[in-house]
Amino acid sequence: MVQLRLPKDSVVKLGKTWPAPEGATNLRKFQIYRWDPDAGENPRVDTYFVDLDTCGPMVLDALIKIKNEIDPGLTFRRSCREGICGSCAMNIDGVNTLACTRGMDEINGTVKIYPLPHMPVVKDLVPDLTHFYAQHASIMPWLETKTSTPVKEWLQSIEDRKKLDGLYECVMCACCSTSCPSYWWNGDKYLGPAALLHAYRWIIDSRDEATGERLDQLEDPFKLYRCHTIMNCTKTCPKNLNPAKAIAQIKGMMVDRVI
Ligand code: SF4
Ligand code: SF4
Ligand code: FES
Repeated sequence: MVQLRLPKDSVVKLGKTWPAPEGATNLRKFQIYRWDPDAGENPRVDTYFVDLDTCGPMVLDALIKIKNEIDPGLTFRRSCREGICGSCAMNIDGVNTLACTRGMDEINGTVKIYPLPHMPVVKDLVPDLTHFYAQHASIMPWLETKTSTPVKEWLQSIEDRKKLDGLYECVMCACCSTSCPSYWWNGDKYLGPAALLHAYRWIIDSRDEATGERLDQLEDPFKLYRCHTIMNCTKTCPKNLNPAKAIAQIKGMMVDRVI
């Protein structure tokens, strides 16, 4: 059996406990992963206390309050605060999710926050998504056509348009791919659930004319077939999408085209 050993001193230790706001009576404790590559130190987990009486209800509200009022160095991504941009994805209370849509009332006790697992970290809660985005680009996330462009628009029936429901809503947050054990171990070659959900979104688009090429590109022992239907991706998706089902549909199309 393979034995994994962490390098000496690589254990994440408890770091600084920041003082609680004076006079606050409704405090919530947060433990947040901190790592600054420029500091030359090991990662640590800092402890903060947030006054819930002066804070919004979501985990992102608390992170913004900590950054604004306690520790300006705390680094995380966020933009829309509406679950639309996908940028605030992180591991909260052991689950990959969006900080702006996860209510603090959904979590018992201390709120523990880490970056998305098994990704290189740029700083604190910011993962490096360069490879993840390159994989998305590799599936050609655009309409490929061969016939001449219509004067007005590419038409689609209501039924065909409905086939895209449950797919187009993906916000590319990476919660699914970073919860997938197959992606953890083979993320260099396996495309992962997010990229494959997008691949399926274009494969079944009635207006697309590159279905064969798209399937050819996925006919590979790693890119598609490393999915072992463990379903972590579907369980964790904060948009309630089903990447595992999309992957299964692609596999089904692979079989159908050879029989
Ligand atoms: S169903 Fe496939 S993609 Fe989803 S977590 Fe499992 S192995 Fe990964
Ligand atoms: S399928 Fe869900 S979890 Fe995966 S990237 Fe899209 S929105 Fe995020
Ligand atoms: S800030 Fe945009 S999804 Fe959370």
